[in-house]
Amino acid sequence: MPLKICPSMLSANPTRLGQELMDVEKAGADAIHWDIMDGNFVEAITFGSNVVSAHRKLTTLRFDVHLMVREPDRHLENFSAAGADVIIVHLEACDHLHRTLSRIKNLGKKSGIALNPATPIDSVKYCPDILDMVLIMAVNPGSSGQTFIESSVKKISELKQTVPASVEICLDGGITAETIKKCTGADSFVSGAHIFGSENYSSAIGTLKTNYR
Ligand code: DX5
Ligand code: ZN
Repeated sequence: MPLKICPSMLSANPTRLGQELMDVEKAGADAIHWDIMDGNFVEAITFGSNVVSAHRKLTTLRFDVHLMVREPDRHLENFSAAGADVIIVHLEACDHLHRTLSRIKNLGKKSGIALNPATPIDSVKYCPDILDMVLIMAVNPGSSGQTFIESSVKKISELKQTVPASVEICLDGGITAETIKKCTGADSFVSGAHIFGSENYSSAIGTLKTNYR
């Protein structure tokens, strides 16, 4: 699987999201990561499906919608209709994970499971046919710019022994030019502060790609 760098719109300048999206696309982004927070599963509130939908016409890049919300089933149809390509739900927020992943697949979308730093990978192995991505959180969900939690790294090798090679393993949170070097085996990376906090998006993305190899 070719390496993907996925800028998180959470760290973009909120007064000019569309321009920021087009700038990271020009700078070499491989997908766009939307962090959806409900003020309940996590404290913050971020984007609704109308915001995702409004940006859909600006790019053909893959839209990864990371639902940090309770009762994610209530929102699957809206984000699907808004143009999500991958819908990622938190294991910790799903009472019926297998059913939720099946619903995402039935909407014609790719499905992902996000795991908080303290959550073991075990449940993932029981959903092989309906799972396209595992999002390993390397920070506690809720905000950008946090410090990378080192113990997350061992989940990469654990997952590689557990899920088929076709399942994308993505790291989310605290990814910098230094921490990415520790993440051997991952297929994709979400990056907020490192990219949007830099002067030059193209060199920020380029550094991540160079340092990972
Ligand atoms: C955390 C989000 C992440 C985060 C990434 O709740 O899921 O996507 O914003 O931002 P950085 O790269 O700044 O940790
Ligand atoms: Zn995220």
